[in-house]
Amino acid sequence: MSNAPFIYLNGVSKAYGNNVVIKHADIMIPKSGFAFLLGSTGAGKSTLLKMITGEIKPTRGQVYIKGQDITKWSKSQKAAWRRKIGYVFQEDRLLDYKTVFENVALPLEIQELSRKKIKEKVNAILRVIGLGNRSRAYPHQLSGGERQRVSLARALVANPELILADEPTAQLDPPTAAEIFNLLVSLNRTGRITILMATHEWELVEKTNLPAYFIKDGSVRFWEGIR
Ligand SMILES: Nc1ncnc2c1ncn2[C@@H]1O[C@H](COP(=O)(O)OP(=O)(O)O)[C@@H](O)[C@H]1O
Ligand SMILES: [Mg+2]
Repeated sequence: MSNAPFIYLNGVSKAYGNNVVIKHADIMIPKSGFAFLLGSTGAGKSTLLKMITGEIKPTRGQVYIKGQDITKWSKSQKAAWRRKIGYVFQEDRLLDYKTVFENVALPLEIQELSRKKIKEKVNAILRVIGLGNRSRAYPHQLSGGERQRVSLARALVANPELILADEPTAQLDPPTAAEIFNLLVSLNRTGRITILMATHEWELVEKTNLPAYFIKDGSVRFWEGIR
């Protein structure tokens, strides 16, 4: 199915024991699209993101990636898909004993690339992310916003098809949060990279013209944004 949507959740439900977190959700994310997952704490945002990575299997329904049902994939097929995803967390998960350069290089080290190639790619992404001059710094020498930029660089360096950002601005002060958010939007616009961003900040969503899936009491509703 070459003309299938990039990501399509078809009637997906997820329960943890008796706790039904997501009820019959239909979600479609087109290639190169940007969408929010908006919901308060415990609404099920991280659960939905992990169903897209294949870490969590829905109780009901199907998760299609380019027309293929991920719930039927083997471990190695899922692992290959995950290598195409850049995941950004609320808290940056940087290694304190590694420099900015070394943290960003991590996803490339599992690929068999030459030192020279790794250096090229890491330096290029650090420039894109505005940290070209901080490559030798250690995480503790950076501001919260800079650390989250490094996380974003690490998520981007292996050239992912998809960025899943799980409340990436939640621990940042408003101006820094806006900076990181604008960076995500520009990566989506100029880099054509597909982005799904979970957030509980409806004010942020409201300020943009971008579409959102709003999760409440297990129901997922679509808001198409302002055109
Ligand atoms: N592994 C798990 N086992 C049992 N309950 C879970 C598990 N993960 C999440 N939950 C529950 O599912 C609900 C949604 O969690 P989550 O997807 O993390 O929400 P959000 O990311 O929107 O804060 C919460 O009530 C949470 O306690
Ligand atoms: Mg969460």
